[in-house]
Amino acid sequence: MGKDRDKDKDKELTSKNEMKLSQEFYKKAQELFKDYPKRVHALLPLLHMIQKEQGQISDQAMEEVADLVDVAITHVQGVVTFYTMYSLKKRAPNYIGVCTNLSCWLRGSKELSQSLLKMIDEEKDFKGKFHLEETECLGACDHAPVALCNEKYMEDANLDDLKDWCLAKCSKDK
Ligand code: FES
Repeated sequence: MGKDRDKDKDKELTSKNEMKLSQEFYKKAQELFKDYPKRVHALLPLLHMIQKEQGQISDQAMEEVADLVDVAITHVQGVVTFYTMYSLKKRAPNYIGVCTNLSCWLRGSKELSQSLLKMIDEEKDFKGKFHLEETECLGACDHAPVALCNEKYMEDANLDDLKDWCLAKCSKDK
């Protein structure tokens, strides 16, 4: 019984260590700090780096980054849970956010998002590569419907262009 508990503890520690931030991350963070008057001002780009590197923002990562910028972990948790670009759970490597607020909705974004979801589900090459979600206003309403594809905006978005973007991402991964 005790041994089993030790094994579980070991497993827990191993998986926590796997989520540790890399040396590469710490190096990039030091570079980034040069551009900001205070370390805490670099919190958002640091979190973007973690999301990209690990596909999520784990508890371990939040602890480490809170230490690094010298704020309470609750501050980091508040930021991570406020912005949809960050996720506590592991996500597929490519993010697509389709805005379904009024202007985009009036220009068919709900249907676009549903068709895109169907396409991602059905297309064998797309499996596990894209995380799709509907978002609030992305601030580019005059080009509705708008999608956020990783860090880039796709304005006047349509299914063909989104499919091309997905295909380009897949061929880059090969
Ligand atoms: S409503 Fe979609 S970008 Fe503003």
